Amino acid sequence: MSDKELSSCRAFVFDAYGTLFDVGSAVTKLRDSVGEEAELLSHVWRQKQLEYTWLRSLMGEFTDFWTVTGDALDFALEQIGKKDPVLRSKLMETYLSLDTFPEVVETLEALKSQGHKLAILSNGAKHMLISAAKSSGILGLFDQIICVDDLKTYKPHPDVYQLAVDQLELEPDEIAFQSSNGWDIAGAGHFGFRTAWINRTKQPVERLSHKADVVLNGLDELLPMVATPQKA
Ligand code: LAC
Repeated sequence: MSDKELSSCRAFVFDAYGTLFDVGSAVTKLRDSVGEEAELLSHVWRQKQLEYTWLRSLMGEFTDFWTVTGDALDFALEQIGKKDPVLRSKLMETYLSLDTFPEVVETLEALKSQGHKLAILSNGAKHMLISAAKSSGILGLFDQIICVDDLKTYKPHPDVYQLAVDQLELEPDEIAFQSSNGWDIAGAGHFGFRTAWINRTKQPVERLSHKADVVLNGLDELLPMVATPQKA
């Protein structure tokens, strides 16, 4: 995606978990209670959470992301042999106030001050997204918080990305979509968004149909690429 293409976008839409919010921060905050298997717990929890969204979508057996997140945590806690209801409750509570990555707030504030339209498009349940955005002080920066609760299917189903088109009243190629999840970028690009992969952890490229239009190390790298927004 060239600078011109990006600055011609009419809205910046962000994935939530892994892109705005550091999903690892839930376990990090409770590392002492979790113990030496903290890294493994965090990894299995996230991977299972994603797997359950894909499997439930394929089976046509939707349940909301809060339930999926709890089910994934139960699997991960059992895998490390730590079936502890009090710890489970604390970890789930912490998931409602995850840390943002270091560059997130300043980048969103800069984009907002330039007059750009901002939205979240996430698998997250509405209450989860509002809670995390409020606790990190970024809720007021978004024009829309778009979730899949009523759609009852998960990314990368095209109908999820269509939600952003419908709710923002824009064409797909007028939307710049940012995600740290390569598979999410593939789904969004396949749908027709312009895509920026936020590859903070230098992951390999997904062998899927769409390659990101641009690959960035952090959201702040968007700023030099965008001018002031297009007039309506
Ligand atoms: C989301 C997950 C996929 O926020 O990160 O939609």
